[in-house]
Amino acid sequence: MRHLTRTEDLSKEILEKLFRIADKIKKNPKKFANALSGKVVATLFYEPSTRTRCSFESAILKLGAGIVSTENARENASVTKGETLEDTIKMMSCYVDAIVMRHFENDSAVRAAAVSSVPFINAGSGSAGHPTQSILDAYTIREIKGHLDNLKVVVVGDLKYGRTANSLIKLLSMYGGLKLYALAPKGLELADEFHAIICKSFEDIPRDIDVIYQTRIQKERLPAGVKADSFTITKAVLDKFSENTLLMHPLPRVDELAIDCDSDPRAVYFRQAQNGIPTRMALLLMLLKRAE
Ligand code: NCD
Repeated sequence: MRHLTRTEDLSKEILEKLFRIADKIKKNPKKFANALSGKVVATLFYEPSTRTRCSFESAILKLGAGIVSTENARENASVTKGETLEDTIKMMSCYVDAIVMRHFENDSAVRAAAVSSVPFINAGSGSAGHPTQSILDAYTIREIKGHLDNLKVVVVGDLKYGRTANSLIKLLSMYGGLKLYALAPKGLELADEFHAIICKSFEDIPRDIDVIYQTRIQKERLPAGVKADSFTITKAVLDKFSENTLLMHPLPRVDELAIDCDSDPRAVYFRQAQNGIPTRMALLLMLLKRAE
């Protein structure tokens, strides 16, 4: 794997290798403090981000590499002068050893990787995908459950414009025995290609579900005039499920996830966000060492 543009670029073998490196980083982070010293990584963000950008930048710094960054690239980068994405990437490839990019267009990552002469990592491309989120999500499930096979998972929320649930489903489908359920507001349903069992309410979800993956309604991506109410998870809803059910969310949350869930040991979304560091460190190491 030279670039990570889509979750489909991953395989079970690559994932297992990434997870093992992430495990090692978690155990002994100091050992990796200079692993990428002398390298420079660009973080280009054309869409808002807190977790993804900050955890990538922290991961880069923790590996001893430097950063060149454009946080608000849609307004601040040369795109405002009319430069194409392809030209920006070709030029950035001359300055840095790897590029991490978030962009509002669905095909942006594939287009950028096609012209990048250094490893390219997709940090979210429109509603199409968010492969590094799916890596940290899967890593968190594996860390707690001990495996990724034979999981019973329900994805909830905006399954049409949200990119995280789609990416996670694609990743978990690489493992055997996934049983997938979906609960979405009308108009924001999951694509048929995923063959999920459709739920109409929380009551339709089996009590012993392994993972509830809640997501935000992507208001910024909804066509004008389209409104949707989320299926809100509160502590009372969570208490209908087994003590082994994990409650996950890529964050940021709005009103779909009540704060009264936070103190429940099954709520793992902050641990999930924390795992963005070792998993992104592992990915940077894997791609940059391969490129040497
Ligand atoms: C998600 C995203 O950007 O797709 N956030 C993240 O990266 N953790 C989810 C969202 O914005 O709803």
